[in-house]
Amino acid sequence: MTIDLVLANGTVVTPSGVMEADILVSGEVIADIVPPGTGRGARMIDARGRIVLPGGVDAHVHFLIGFMGQRSVYDFYSGTVAALRGGNTTVIDFALQRRGRSMLDGLKHRRVQADRHVATDYGLHLIATDINPSSLAEVPALVEAGAASFKVYTVYEKEQLKVDDGPLHDLMRALGQAGGMLGLHAENASLIDHAIAKHLAAGEVAPRYHATSRPALAETEAVRRGLLLAEDAGCPLHIFHLNSGPALDAIEAAAARGQKASAETCTHYLALTAEKLDREDGHLYVMSPPLRDKATQDRMWQGVASGGFAAVTSDDASYSAEAKALGAESFDRIANGVPGVEHRLPLLYTLGVEAGRLTLPQLAYAWATGPATLFGLAPQKGSIALGADADLVLLDPETRRTMTPESHYGAIGYNPFDGMSLTGWPTLTVRRGQVAVEDGKFLGEPGQGRFLTRRLGAR
Ligand code: URP
Ligand code: ZN
Repeated sequence: MTIDLVLANGTVVTPSGVMEADILVSGEVIADIVPPGTGRGARMIDARGRIVLPGGVDAHVHFLIGFMGQRSVYDFYSGTVAALRGGNTTVIDFALQRRGRSMLDGLKHRRVQADRHVATDYGLHLIATDINPSSLAEVPALVEAGAASFKVYTVYEKEQLKVDDGPLHDLMRALGQAGGMLGLHAENASLIDHAIAKHLAAGEVAPRYHATSRPALAETEAVRRGLLLAEDAGCPLHIFHLNSGPALDAIEAAAARGQKASAETCTHYLALTAEKLDREDGHLYVMSPPLRDKATQDRMWQGVASGGFAAVTSDDASYSAEAKALGAESFDRIANGVPGVEHRLPLLYTLGVEAGRLTLPQLAYAWATGPATLFGLAPQKGSIALGADADLVLLDPETRRTMTPESHYGAIGYNPFDGMSLTGWPTLTVRRGQVAVEDGKFLGEPGQGRFLTRRLGAR
C-alpha cells in the first residue's frame, strides 16, 4: 500500500484515548497509526507539539440562507472555506421545503446550490414546512436519498416555517417508519408571541426583550411536548440548539428511560451570556433560543462533559453587522443567528479543555465523534481510526490570539466572540487525505467536497 501522507509525532486523540503517534494516510483514508517517529510516506508533516483531532463535524450550519429579510454573508463556497479554516471537514446544512412545494424538490434544489461549490464534505437536514399526504409519501425517498434527519420549527410563522403539532406528529410517524429522525427547533410559539406583544405594547423594544420573551419555560415546554409526540410516534427525536437546564434534564431523563432522544448545544451558549444583550450593540447577540444566565451556561458545559449532548454545533448564521443593525430599533425584527463555524474549535479548546471542563476525548466527542455517530456519518467520519476517512485537524495548544471582527473569513463585520483571548487554533486541516487549509490558507478548489448520503444508526 502506498503511504501518501504521514502526520508525524502528534498527540493523537482516538476513541480509545490520547497517545503520541504517527498517522499514515493512503489515498483518502487512514491506513495505519504507528508509534511516533516510525511512519514513512511520500509527504511527511511534522505534528510535534500539535494535538491531532478528527476533522470537525459541524452538524448545524446555515450557509446561503435568507431569513427575516436578511441574507447570510456565507454561501456554500465561502462558508465551507471558513469551516475548513476552523478545522471542520464535514458540515450539515439544511434543504428547505417551501410551503405548497415538494420536499424532494427542496432537496434537489439545495444540492444544485451546493454541490459545485462546497469545499468540505456535507450533508443536508430537510426542513419540513408543509406536511400533507403527498409530502408524507416522499419521506421514504428522502431517507433513502440520505436526508434522513429532518428539522421542524415550532415557531417563525411569519417566515412560513412553523409546523403545528398534528402535522408534526404525522411526520414523526412517517419518519419513524422510514428509519429517519425528527429534529426540532423547540420553542412554544404561543408563549413567545404573547410575550412579544406585551413588550411591544409597553414600548419595550431593546434587544434584551428578545431574551425575556423567549424564557426557558418556552423552550422546555416545547422539548417536553416533542418528546411526548416522538415517543408516541416511534420516532427518534433530536433537539437543535438547546439552551435551558430543564430542557436538557428532560432529554437526559428520556434517554435514560430508553427513548431515542438527543440534543446539541452551540458554542455561543457555552461562551456568552445574556448580559451581551444590554450592550449598545446588543442586537448582534440576538439568536433563538436566546442567551441566558451563567447557571444555564454551567449546566450546558456539564451536559457537554457528560455526553448528555451528542454534539456542540455552531448554528452558523452569518448575517453581517449591517444586516443585524437593520432590526436594531425593535428586537422582534433582528435577523436571528450569529456566525461561528470557524471558531468552534478554539472556543471548545480554551473554554473547555484549557479551563478544565473537558478532557481531550470529551472534546473530540462533542466536536466530531458524537455528531458523526448520531447523524449517520460514522465510522467513515468523526474518528481517527483505521479505514476511516483521513479527515484530520492539527491544533496548536500554545499560541494565543484575541478575537476581532477580522478573525472571520469573509466580511461579516462583527464577531460575537470579539475580545476573547483564545488558544487551540487549527493550523492544518486535511480533508480526505488532502491538505485543504494550512495556516488559514485554503489550498483546494470549490466543489471538492462531497454530498454525504447519511444512514442513521442507533445512538
Ligand atoms: O437564531 C437562530 N438559531 N438562527 C438560525 C436559524 C435556526 O433557528 O436555526
Ligand atoms: Zn433553529
